[in-house]
Amino acid sequence: MLVKNRLITGDAVEKIAELPDNHFQLIIADPPYFQVLLGEQWDNQWKSPEAYLTWTMKWVQACRDKLRDDGLFYIFGQLGKREHTWLHACSMICRELAYHDMIVWDRAVGYNERYDSFTPQYEMALAVKKANDAKPWFDKDAVRVPYDEDIIAGYLKDKRYKDMDRRREHLRKGKYATNILRVPSLKGNSKEKIGHPSQKPIKLIEMLVESSSREGDWVLDPFIGSGTTAEACERLGRKWIGIEIDPAYAEIAKQRIAALKTLDRQTLF
Ligand SMILES: C[S@@+](CC[C@H](N)C(=O)[O-])C[C@H]1O[C@@H](n2cnc3c(N)ncnc32)[C@H](O)[C@@H]1O
Repeated sequence: MLVKNRLITGDAVEKIAELPDNHFQLIIADPPYFQVLLGEQWDNQWKSPEAYLTWTMKWVQACRDKLRDDGLFYIFGQLGKREHTWLHACSMICRELAYHDMIVWDRAVGYNERYDSFTPQYEMALAVKKANDAKPWFDKDAVRVPYDEDIIAGYLKDKRYKDMDRRREHLRKGKYATNILRVPSLKGNSKEKIGHPSQKPIKLIEMLVESSSREGDWVLDPFIGSGTTAEACERLGRKWIGIEIDPAYAEIAKQRIAALKTLDRQTLF
């Protein structure tokens, strides 16, 4: 029996293989992007784009077996600076699994100076499912974005609506999130930052977890880094498994989860 809420230290390809098949409702993978963070050994461990792509397909195929038939699998990647390997990865991944959507993470501010083009501001998450005819579980209502107050005020002037209290209540629920998720990236001095160079904002990961899994579902993150997916799952009542090859990052993630568990449950759920 798989023990829930566990961080496994080791290589993703090896450790994914040990997990049960058809088990995870949601897989969130934020792998090394390949030579994006030039100072990090883990992002520069492949000699060529081809070697990186071969490795990518190994862990993607391993994850495919672990995904439930109605599950979703998000794979983060980035274009915009010198790198374009992600384009090839997307094409190869969509030959193994079925394309479902491309989510844009709008980081709200540009992340690198560039003088020969526009300043890059987004990353992506390719969403794939197990087969073309698969029907992934997705809850649009779980992730709504509040309307601005002036928009609400404008809508409430519309005389066609007789029951304004109902209308107000409806508008207060917010609108469906689009596939452009605007969540500011973490600044160096952000309170959320805990010592990983590519830590994702918790809000972003929560949006994926809330929309693409139910309470009690299993979620896998094969490159868990500082434990962002684990924290999102703890907060939202999902069972999680995380894999991380670097023992130092694994320790950071473990401490992060331990600290979370000592918080008042009211704050957590
Ligand atoms: C982009 S980071 C993930 C960041 C994470 N989403 C967060 O919010 O902290 C990728 C992580 O993959 C880890 N990694 C690299 N190669 C790995 C492998 N073969 N197996 C498991 N983890 C690996 C790196 O150590 C790094 O922490």
